[in-house]
Amino acid sequence: MGKNILFEKKEGIGLIKFNRPDKLNALNYETLDELETLLKEIKEDKEIKVVIFTGAGEKAFVAGADINELSKLDPLKAKRLSLRGQRIFSEIENLEKPTIAAINGFALGGGCELALSCSIRIASTNAKIGQPEVKLGLIPGYGGTQRLARLIAKGHAMELILTGEMVSSEEALRIGIVNKVVPLEELMLVVESIAKKIIANGPLAVRLASEAINRGLNLSLEDGLILEANLFGLCFSSEDAKEGTSAFLEKRIPVFKGE
Ligand code: COA
Repeated sequence: MGKNILFEKKEGIGLIKFNRPDKLNALNYETLDELETLLKEIKEDKEIKVVIFTGAGEKAFVAGADINELSKLDPLKAKRLSLRGQRIFSEIENLEKPTIAAINGFALGGGCELALSCSIRIASTNAKIGQPEVKLGLIPGYGGTQRLARLIAKGHAMELILTGEMVSSEEALRIGIVNKVVPLEELMLVVESIAKKIIANGPLAVRLASEAINRGLNLSLEDGLILEANLFGLCFSSEDAKEGTSAFLEKRIPVFKGE
């Protein structure tokens, strides 16, 4: 890809690796530009079924927005940057392909917010997660105040954001930020095995299930249930729904075509 992000594609998986290890993979403007372009390409690429995010080096996933750049912002530029980061992370959340954050070290500020916009988060034992913006006299600006409070209990979100303290991966597991904690050397294997399980399923069903959860969370229960019924109905327009149900009844493994 560009110089700040490495990208590779194999067996239906798109692997995005933030690659500024000497700056703990902090998200500078250039990296955001590269990420935005890459996400557009991934969206159009039918061969990619699941996207994994991780960080280069053994120390960091992403240690936040680039503080050198933040230090030079005025209010209007800061608002524009916040809206841009939010838009890019919403692109990730609504990519129509499941996304997994393989958190291999520090996931702070924008790095935590990036992970929060993914469908699933798996952390290595050495990972440290937090929203330290208040320590800089700032607040999270790439969706953290909203997504963290929706993902975990409000009190835990408040504590993380108001103290600015990092938590260990075990604590992140306990309060529900991450799904699983594994040794660093097993992280990519575990994440890829989750990706492969998702890839084996009906692609349209996977996409619509994510949409039902993501969109439904922002609706009343009543409207969310209608959304679910509509998307459930839509599944029956696919060949894959016929294949999946027939294969079960015929006691064979389904072959989904994504149609
Ligand atoms: N923006 C810009 N540079 C960053 C950065 C960030 N968010 N996070 C780390 N870096 C840089 C450091 O300035 C340092 O650069 P240098 O070698 O040119 O001095 C390099 O990455 C390594 O970081 P360092 O602080 O030396 O590593 P450490 O192991 O001592 O500490 C952290 C690790 C994560 C605790 C510390 O780097 C940190 O607090 N980073 C900022 C996290 C943050 O506030 N993020 C939210 C931003 S809104």
